[in-house]
Amino acid sequence: MSLSVAALGLDFSTPLCMLSGNAGYGTEYLRVSGFNYDAIGAVFLKGTTEAERYGNPPERVTETPYGLMNAIGLQNPGVAAVIRDLLPKLNWDGKPHFIPNISGFSIDEYALLAQAFDQTPVPAIEINISCPNVKKGGAAFGNDPDLSAQVVEACRAATTKPLIVKLSPNQTSIAHSARRCIDAGANALSAINTVSAMAIDIHTRMPRLGNNQGGLSGPAIKPIALLAVHNIYQVAKAHNIPVIGQGGITNAKDAIEFMLAGASLVGVGTALAKDPMIAPKILKGIQQYMDKYGFTHVSQLTGALELHDNSNGCMPASCLK
Ligand SMILES: Cc1cc2nc3c(=O)[nH]c(=O)nc-3n(C[C@H](O)[C@H](O)[C@H](O)COP(=O)(O)O)c2cc1C
Repeated sequence: MSLSVAALGLDFSTPLCMLSGNAGYGTEYLRVSGFNYDAIGAVFLKGTTEAERYGNPPERVTETPYGLMNAIGLQNPGVAAVIRDLLPKLNWDGKPHFIPNISGFSIDEYALLAQAFDQTPVPAIEINISCPNVKKGGAAFGNDPDLSAQVVEACRAATTKPLIVKLSPNQTSIAHSARRCIDAGANALSAINTVSAMAIDIHTRMPRLGNNQGGLSGPAIKPIALLAVHNIYQVAKAHNIPVIGQGGITNAKDAIEFMLAGASLVGVGTALAKDPMIAPKILKGIQQYMDKYGFTHVSQLTGALELHDNSNGCMPASCLK
């Protein structure tokens, strides 16, 4: 039975990834007793900006039923320090792959970041397209397919490394955005980033997060993420573009659902905070599932979803009210 995944011209030892913002800069979890990267194919490093950032005022995270809301505000030491001080601490043997996540506040900043990592041993670069465009009133690049494509084009011109574009669920058609990003030069797509959300404290009558609003992650967003991955896969598979599925994965069943919907790789973020040792458990569950249903290679799960045939006139749910 093979658990390795070939994608982006790379060999991932397993389909499991640790997601950006939930795995620091690759060394932090190694301090947890008993933790190792054996079950992990890739680690996405914390979102990195041009300048050092201290992030948002507290509270920066708050729990909601079945989820977590965060507004960290991209706290990071800045790209120069990441490249100079943090990347040299990592092993570059591909077990796992360490992939930086770039977050810009202008198209020029995205391009500068892509160019900076182009000169490093990183095997690919993930573009976090959900950052606010400060020149255009602060709306996120990722909420607008035109702006998303412009960001990808600028990064494409700045690096020859594979580009993974992390799509925002906070838009009308994530599949349309996926198509535009592919046309602009994306080599893979990650989906989904967090869902815009708010939590309110009725006693203070104020938002719970210091930033007033934040991004919802965890099991609450899994059904949204699954549909997004399914829709993106319909666009991406024709171009042989892999999808990195994520959003609320907490066990093997969740991970398998994302692969059936079209993900080649799957990521765990929020769940790591509860159980840093979750990856080997998920991988074991995937192996058991493959064994039970006779899959010999984990990539056979990708896109194996079979839809119901509704061509005989079944009504869409919206008409059945
Ligand atoms: C505390 C926290 C910080 C995050 N920071 C980043 C980030 O810097 N860049 C990014 O692209 N996504 C970031 N994310 C989004 C995650 O990488 C992931 O896409 C999202 O949380 C959905 O997966 P999950 O439900 O498994 O957490 C962050 C999420 C959390 C919870």
